[in-house]
Amino acid sequence: MVPCNILMSMNNPTSSYKSAEILEPITPVGVNQGETVLILDFGSQYAQLIARRVREAGAFSILLSPDTPIEKLATYAPAGIVLSGGPSSVSEKGAPRCDERIFELGVPILGICYGMQLGCELLGGTIEAAHAREYGRSVLKVLDTTGLFRGMPTDTAAWMSHGDQVEIVGDDFKILAETSTCPLAAVSHKTIPFYGVQFHPEVTHTPHGVELLRNFLYKICGIKGTWRMSDFMEAQCEKIREIVGDSKVLCGLSGGVDSSVVAALLHRAIGDQLVCVFVDNGLLRKNEREFVETTFRDHFQIDLRVVDAAKEFLDDLSGVTDPQKKRTLIGHRFIDVFKEAATEIESHTDDTIRFLAQGTLYPDVIESGHGYSGAAANIKLHHNVGGLPEELGFELIEPLRDLFKDEVRKLGEVLGLPDGIIWRHPFPGPGLAVRCLGEVAEPKLAVLRDCDEILLEEIVAANLYRSTDQVFAVLLPVQSVGVMGDGRTYESVVAIRAVETQDFMTADWARIPYDILASISNRIINEVRGVNRVVYDISSKPPATIEWE
Ligand code: XMP
Repeated sequence: MVPCNILMSMNNPTSSYKSAEILEPITPVGVNQGETVLILDFGSQYAQLIARRVREAGAFSILLSPDTPIEKLATYAPAGIVLSGGPSSVSEKGAPRCDERIFELGVPILGICYGMQLGCELLGGTIEAAHAREYGRSVLKVLDTTGLFRGMPTDTAAWMSHGDQVEIVGDDFKILAETSTCPLAAVSHKTIPFYGVQFHPEVTHTPHGVELLRNFLYKICGIKGTWRMSDFMEAQCEKIREIVGDSKVLCGLSGGVDSSVVAALLHRAIGDQLVCVFVDNGLLRKNEREFVETTFRDHFQIDLRVVDAAKEFLDDLSGVTDPQKKRTLIGHRFIDVFKEAATEIESHTDDTIRFLAQGTLYPDVIESGHGYSGAAANIKLHHNVGGLPEELGFELIEPLRDLFKDEVRKLGEVLGLPDGIIWRHPFPGPGLAVRCLGEVAEPKLAVLRDCDEILLEEIVAANLYRSTDQVFAVLLPVQSVGVMGDGRTYESVVAIRAVETQDFMTADWARIPYDILASISNRIINEVRGVNRVVYDISSKPPATIEWE
């Protein structure tokens, strides 16, 4: 969501996705009674992948801090629990542990790697450093093809990544699978519904891993696979209504996917109690403001306040060329403008605005350095988004906090957002200021907007918008010599950037066909006055970044 991203980039210009601190939810959400699986994340790099696999199987999954007390776990009425892997050793001082009473819940529990070791230790087993550490692909011999391994071959591959392993378990355990170096590669308890696997069924390198997880979910936990994104939507709406009561909620709307989905969800939940603020900072794409107004005010009938602060932003940027300084100035100005807008709205409403809604996603939480989500309820007290909510005295609502980007898009579809919003490429908070290299001024922005518009038109016409992840134009601070008609020109150079990426942390330049590049170049040079040269950026990230500043 633009506001926060701007604020974040202000704090750390190189990292755009620092997120709010994880805070305890006000109350937990029973997202879908009987179809919810809790994942206690012990710091595994694969925790989110487990969450995904569970959702793909048709149950809702919630990532929680491993030390969540049993009373709280019980409020979710989970169908099952997964204890994830993690980098620690179970016996190490300070290693994360779960509530030791977890088995009292009586629900099936699957421990993966560290989770297996912890579960076995809690049930009387012994954990040791493995004689031979196992990293990578192992040959798994399945000893019991019922239950967890139902329908799987007796010889299969499994992805291992461990130093420790379970050495001894009591007679009340059954051994389900072994490898040549790990005799207890999978176990189950005979009377307690606990299952442990030393390998990682969630990764694609374990070819039958999805089947194993589905056996756990369907055969052991008894889920029916009926969870749908619409259930999430309804449950969130209900919860939001419950938390918000009669209060108003403010939402900074950028027109990007995340904040748009948050706004649509909040609007569905609380209707007119939602007030959206869109800040026109003068650094937007062509027609962006009209697009957001038409979509949200006219189509969704959301109370949308547009603040025109272009002059303030551009005045701040006058004479500034340093990229970090630009971001900082934009971030500070944004806070001031948003604060003013909030005060202004509050002065015209009888009710105070208690909440600020924000589109933090699960990867934002991960990237902010928090290894697990303690945030399943999605409704947080406000905190630490560059200081803004705190300064304004808001509590924070983050209904997308457990979702991945593609899931947010699905939610957007369920909410009826147009494809044009759901599939939008990201646009950075500081906007065209970081694509207009050097000093930012309106005439240069106008040139850039025109180039950008042509570029996107051509990309859409060539059916490349969905196969690329971000495409934009950059106005370079250099002029080059050209010839037009009979005359010499000395005009600007525009760079085209098009990337393919999964997560925007790494990216490759898109192999746009030459003839499409040719049309883009021809159109820009012919239609945009002041540009006589177009170049194509063929740098990957790393070592380059996606944006140029
Ligand atoms: P970089 O340039 O770091 O960009 O490779 C990665 C992704 O982040 C976007 N980006 C930003 N988004 N505020 C944002 O909201 C920012 O300050 C910001 N800086 C970069 C960039 O467009 C790309 O998608």
